[in-house]
Amino acid sequence: MGGARRPLRLAPSLLSADFADLASAIREAETGGADAFHLDVMDGHFVPNISFGPALVKAVRARTRLPLDIHLMISEPLRYLSAFRSAGGDTLVFHAEASNDPSEVVRAAHDLGAEVGIAVRPATPLERVDPVLDRVDQLLVMSVEPGFSGQAFIPSVLPKVMAARRQLDQRNPGADLSIDGGITVATAVPAARAGATFFVCGNSVYGQGAVVDNLRALRSALAQGSSRAVP
Ligand code: DX5
Ligand code: ZN
Repeated sequence: MGGARRPLRLAPSLLSADFADLASAIREAETGGADAFHLDVMDGHFVPNISFGPALVKAVRARTRLPLDIHLMISEPLRYLSAFRSAGGDTLVFHAEASNDPSEVVRAAHDLGAEVGIAVRPATPLERVDPVLDRVDQLLVMSVEPGFSGQAFIPSVLPKVMAARRQLDQRNPGADLSIDGGITVATAVPAARAGATFFVCGNSVYGQGAVVDNLRALRSALAQGSSRAVP
């Protein structure tokens, strides 16, 4: 992948929204200027929690034209790529820890016409993504242990974000560098300075207060705190 570094984007995580009223959660985030939606798929095996599957992705797809970023916290991601693509997923993000052959997963997702991302848990070194770094559309560095929203950002992942930025700048500058977990007005800024371009926000968007105001606050923090332009 070539190309210039992508603009900074905000992706509300629907895991923190009211599942009984996702239509409102989607509409409010769109009004607030969301750039994409992040959907957290958990299988109760790769992570202890269970969330939702392709049926919910399909329901969300019917309500928005924004890109859907599907975070597959599941074992055997290869088995489910096609179901999540058919349901409307635009980017299929799988975990490096869940695959012995990441090249195969990347190829399969691209064959389905999807973008593909590879994710690492906070303790997983970047070496695990090295074989596919040139070919992914997104690298996701987790800033909490995957499984639940509302956890505190782990600042010790910032050096890994910086290292990921350097590697992507050399090898794949057009890929998104995504950060997920505990992103708030306060933590988005150091993450952006470290080189993140795609910010997943659950609790800080849907936890309390108005979604529109929360998103605007996040965007304005990024615009002021980062040296890079926010569209
Ligand atoms: C955690 C998920 C996150 C989560 C983020 O396993 O991957 O996407 O929904 O929620 P916050 O922003 O509240 O940490
Ligand atoms: Zn996620």
